[in-house]
Amino acid sequence: MTKRIVFSIFLALVASLIWSVRAQDEDVAYLICAKDGVENKVSRALLERVGSGGEFPNCSRGHKLDEALCPKDKARNRLIDETGARREQCTKDGASLVILAQDRGPDRISPEKLKTFAPETQKQYQLFSQKCGKCHTLARALNAKFHSLEWQKYVKRMMRRPGSEMSETDGREVYRFLKF
Ligand code: HEC
Repeated sequence: MTKRIVFSIFLALVASLIWSVRAQDEDVAYLICAKDGVENKVSRALLERVGSGGEFPNCSRGHKLDEALCPKDKARNRLIDETGARREQCTKDGASLVILAQDRGPDRISPEKLKTFAPETQKQYQLFSQKCGKCHTLARALNAKFHSLEWQKYVKRMMRRPGSEMSETDGREVYRFLKF
């Protein structure tokens, strides 16, 4: 009897450990501090609140992270725009200012694997790689674990971003690929 209780407690501990590691991974973003150029790990939840009254995170050297460098062109960007809203894209090239954990994963589908896809899907993949790698790596989408409804939401959200240059048809085709 006691053995069983101890075992259940053990199982619960392992489950909560796995859960917290998973949650951490999804909640982490990286920002390059504009004052010292060092990349910093920040909580995405904290970042979400910036602009709606939340405090700015601090960088590892104690600077206030109110400005970040664009990962692409290293331009300095304030994290709050003129209207007081949180800025997500670089003002110069539209790149995503935050680096997400999934950006570090594989950023393409290998030619061998691509060949096994239906011709239609291969075409959708080409479109996806043209359209979805402008502001962040393709890895961000390829390593995301979304289901089809979430993809619908995200493709729409990405299409609305300034500089995305996607038509309704493009969006539909890219969505079909991601769902696949
Ligand atoms: C014009 C710039 C731009 C383009 C083009 C763009 N994105 Fe994004 N994307 C962003 C920015 C900025 C973020 C970070 C803020 C956010 O989550 O909304 C982001 C975040 C994401 C995320 C992370 C969502 C999360 O919360 O974990 C995914 C997935 C994604 N984009 C997929 C796509 C796909 C698929 C396409 C092509 C249809 C695309 N993006 C095209 C700018 C862009």
